[in-house]
Amino acid sequence: MSDWSAERSGLASRRAVLQMGAALAAVGCVGGEDGAKDSDPEGDSGADGGGDTGASLEPAPERSPEPAPWEPPGVVDERTFPYGIQTGDALPDGVVVSVRSFGAPFSLTLVRAEGDGWVEDQVFTDIGHDENGEVAQVVLSGLRPDTAYSVAMQSAGGFWTRPGRFRTALAADGWRILRLGATSCLGGNEPWRALSVAATEALDAFLLLGDTVYADGSVDLEDYRLFWKQAAQTRGMVELSASTSLIATWDDHEVDNNWSPETLPPETFQDALTAFREALPQRRGPGGTGVWRSFTWGKTLEIFVLDCRGERGEGRYISEEQLQWLQDGLSASEARFKFIMNSVPITDLSAIFGAAGASDRWQGYPEQRERVLRHIEDNAIAGVLWVTGDVHYPQVGQVDPVGGTAARQVEVFTGPGGSFLNVAASLFVGDPQYSWVGYAWNWCRFTLDPGLGTVLVQFVGDDGGLLYETTLRL
Ligand SMILES: [Fe+2]
Repeated sequence: MSDWSAERSGLASRRAVLQMGAALAAVGCVGGEDGAKDSDPEGDSGADGGGDTGASLEPAPERSPEPAPWEPPGVVDERTFPYGIQTGDALPDGVVVSVRSFGAPFSLTLVRAEGDGWVEDQVFTDIGHDENGEVAQVVLSGLRPDTAYSVAMQSAGGFWTRPGRFRTALAADGWRILRLGATSCLGGNEPWRALSVAATEALDAFLLLGDTVYADGSVDLEDYRLFWKQAAQTRGMVELSASTSLIATWDDHEVDNNWSPETLPPETFQDALTAFREALPQRRGPGGTGVWRSFTWGKTLEIFVLDCRGERGEGRYISEEQLQWLQDGLSASEARFKFIMNSVPITDLSAIFGAAGASDRWQGYPEQRERVLRHIEDNAIAGVLWVTGDVHYPQVGQVDPVGGTAARQVEVFTGPGGSFLNVAASLFVGDPQYSWVGYAWNWCRFTLDPGLGTVLVQFVGDDGGLLYETTLRL
């Protein structure tokens, strides 16, 4: 987040969420937003982006129930293994697992939900480490789609980590209600109670929109690892990691404040990237930094993960390769919903901040911004939702004001989950472009119903209370 944003946490005392600009929730003025407390998603044609309308819509089926969390058959030793276990980038048949065992060999036990219990699926013994000697990553494959699993590490001494439950992605034709969580910016307010709340829900997956650590000033791999180890053992992250798999992108603070690939030493970039990938297990994307990549959850959802930091330069916000990949992917996607994980907003935020900080956002790169927004409009691509973080306050609103290219596209700002709150949000008096601007630590629950074409967006606070909700018709 840039310097323009807000004062530090002296003004960030926890306070009631301010609901501003509520007039915006007026049905029809936003691309398919029904507004807070409106529980009738069929009540409005919604000036939507091309989604289905009409009386034939039927809700998609719910996920089948899961058993109570699996408990390993031995002693869970959280003093020796405070970092738990992380899973990430789930596919229909696999997931990536990160384990910190600091060089000692270990075993992994994978169990699968079946009926109201768990059955052993696979056991991997005597797993060693790659050259870094600290974090081992294991790619699990051959799994069943849309199935709950749990995985735990057992040390050579016989002790277990807290297990990590995850859910494999839907099969290619999968069609059901999905529940995802999301947040951003975890640079304070430990132990991240919002994440502990999210961890109680056995979500299908959880999206991290960047600034998961604030590793500014790090100069080598060990520096970066220290920040990630701190994050991994913070209670909220331990519990979240135990509850579901992660899909992560990064923003600037995983590397350095407002860093630029044009000025950062290449070895520092590589160290930051290594530590990021160790901590939040990821698959490599098809090009560039490898951070941008996509995941499909059947015909229900495709998630496009952007790298909004690592390929800036020469007037580009992202590389041409990444932009083309996004546009092609959106056009080709057969999923009802397309979420774009966007670490810095694409929304025109002039109504709140004027020109301040615009050069740090998509707004500072108007040619690329216009191109991607125009691509979505001109091709009438339905089901697109921009999901972002970075600015340290939650928001729902139109990407552009009325009359702009993307006035019918919607962006949801998630977090902060722990970083200081942006006082600018508390001072904002409202603008029709934005349905809601909040001022509280939060995570966001997305309930996607591909049958109805709706996404219920619910912001949840540290105490589990509902801060705001709205139903989007995409
Ligand atoms: Fe941040």
